[in-house]
Amino acid sequence: RTPLCILNLKVVIENPLDIYHLKIEIQDINDNAPQFLSSIIQLEIIETTQPGTRFLLGNAKDPDIGTNALQNYHLSTNPYFSLDVKESPDGNRFADLVLQKPLDRESEPTLQLTVTVLDGGKPRKTGTAQIRINVTDANDNPPIFTQEIYTVSLRENVPVGFLVLQLEASDKDEGSHAEIRYYFSNMPLSANKKFSLDSTSGIISLVESLDFEETREYVMTVAAKDGGGSMTHCKVEIRVLDENDNVPEMMFASVFSPILEDSQSGTVIALIKTNDKDIGDNGKVFCYLEDGLPFKILPSSNNYYTLLTDRPLDREKASQYNITITATDKGTPPLSTHKTISLQISDINDNAPAFEKASYSTVHVPENNPASSSIFSIKAVDPDLGRNARITYSILTSKIEELPLPSYLSINSETGTLYSQRSFDYEQLREFQVQVKAEDGGSPPLSSNATLKVFILDQNDQSPQILYPSQGAEGSASFEMVPRSAEVGYLVTKVVAVDADSGHNAWLSYHLLQATEPGLFTIGAHTGEIRTLRTFLERDALKQKLVVLVKDNGQPPLSATVSLNLVFAENFQEALPE
Ligand SMILES: *[C@@H]1O[C@H](CO)[C@@H](O)[C@H](O)[C@H]1NC(C)=O
Ligand SMILES: *[C@@H]1O[C@H](CO)[C@@H](O)[C@H](O)[C@H]1NC(C)=O
Repeated sequence: RTPLCILNLKVVIENPLDIYHLKIEIQDINDNAPQFLSSIIQLEIIETTQPGTRFLLGNAKDPDIGTNALQNYHLSTNPYFSLDVKESPDGNRFADLVLQKPLDRESEPTLQLTVTVLDGGKPRKTGTAQIRINVTDANDNPPIFTQEIYTVSLRENVPVGFLVLQLEASDKDEGSHAEIRYYFSNMPLSANKKFSLDSTSGIISLVESLDFEETREYVMTVAAKDGGGSMTHCKVEIRVLDENDNVPEMMFASVFSPILEDSQSGTVIALIKTNDKDIGDNGKVFCYLEDGLPFKILPSSNNYYTLLTDRPLDREKASQYNITITATDKGTPPLSTHKTISLQISDINDNAPAFEKASYSTVHVPENNPASSSIFSIKAVDPDLGRNARITYSILTSKIEELPLPSYLSINSETGTLYSQRSFDYEQLREFQVQVKAEDGGSPPLSSNATLKVFILDQNDQSPQILYPSQGAEGSASFEMVPRSAEVGYLVTKVVAVDADSGHNAWLSYHLLQATEPGLFTIGAHTGEIRTLRTFLERDALKQKLVVLVKDNGQPPLSATVSLNLVFAENFQEALPE
């Protein structure tokens, strides 16, 4: 019945996103003949009915439009009736039968006419119905409806059993001739299942729920018949009113997932189509997102929305989003529906590896370590994914003390473990620095550096070395002369020793290990100074031998000894001949 029958299609073009609207107009051809709902129309007319009285025939239907639709009615030639064709406000043509000449039951108790209905197509199509008229006795008055047309509007959600309408007809007769029965006389199939008519009360009730989206209007003819057989017709029009009973629908026309974490703000993620079967505000849909997400939703063109990024994304903070979109209509109360898009964010190499500590300033390695032992492990982390997070370690420094680095250190490029390539000697190299690099496998790769300060720890691996008195060859005696008159505390000599280690390992102490005459000499434990402890006595030997032990403070301690020959004499001539 719609003059324009249009199919709306949309074509989505991706990259860049664009929507094209396609309207396909379906044109009518005259493929339907006009038709009465029933091929036989029964009428009861009293013989005394005045010329000019009208009788409803009920309209014929033709689903085509324009000139292909129903155009006119024709009545077979007869002396009593003519047709009056009229147009109702909704544009339907209907015909009333009009009595032209009084009837006479005694000569013609029944009449049979043919009504033909025509459309305007080329060629024309036609439909026919038989009108069978019973002429009834004069003393029987026909029932009269209070209205010729009853119009009712019903909300589509009225319950089954709802009282739609009560028809009322009156009859001037008395007794059984005034008992009126109502029944549907011209009823479309669609209405047949929906409504019932109580034949005595004239109440039309709903027997099956209505659906505005299925049928918007029911038109039917009801007959009232009295006990004498007289019959009248009326028209009943039931309009269905829309209720907000359809939830909006939402469809994803296209979804782009995953998207790169460095996508610009405004990158399209999805195209969403909405639909609502209701009409008016009940069918108007708008979409929105929950708050706090870095996305926005914008209306695109009729019933289409685009979902876009609204802020920069960071996969390292959120690698996946569940974006819930709500579509709500404007009905009262509104109805809504939700749909969720799972959006994956894909990785970009936007993070350099970071060392766990900004700078490994101190690594301590004891000297004399075995060559090829692991001395330290560095570790860097990279929050990116896959290759972008695969770290390779290397040493940037190329030389230590003029020697190529590989003779000192190596690194396991995968684990970051550093190995010494030689045994370190504290006495030669006390500390050195190396720069290490952690690089990821991205394209291009990102890297960071850290500096390692390696301290060699001293071990007590050096014995004290006695500088004085020097140990000459056997025989080339080194001796010290002590005057026989020396006072107590006379400084005889001083043992001088050094230790190449450091700290405790080089902290020396001096001890008398052997003496020809114990109690005659003493040695300063820290100074190495040898002094007399008492004066020389005649019974003391002129030649005295001392063995001095020099010991460091290491764990365990190392030591050295030296022998000293002392001669009591007043002068060199006295001592020298020996
Ligand atoms: C998204 O939904 C899935 C499935 O329900 C769930 O496993 C996942 O954890 C959710 N992700 C987020 C970021 O909430
Ligand atoms: C790391 O050190 C190398 C060599 O000294 C230098 O070229 C590079 O720029 C440094 N990289 C960073 C991230 O500091």
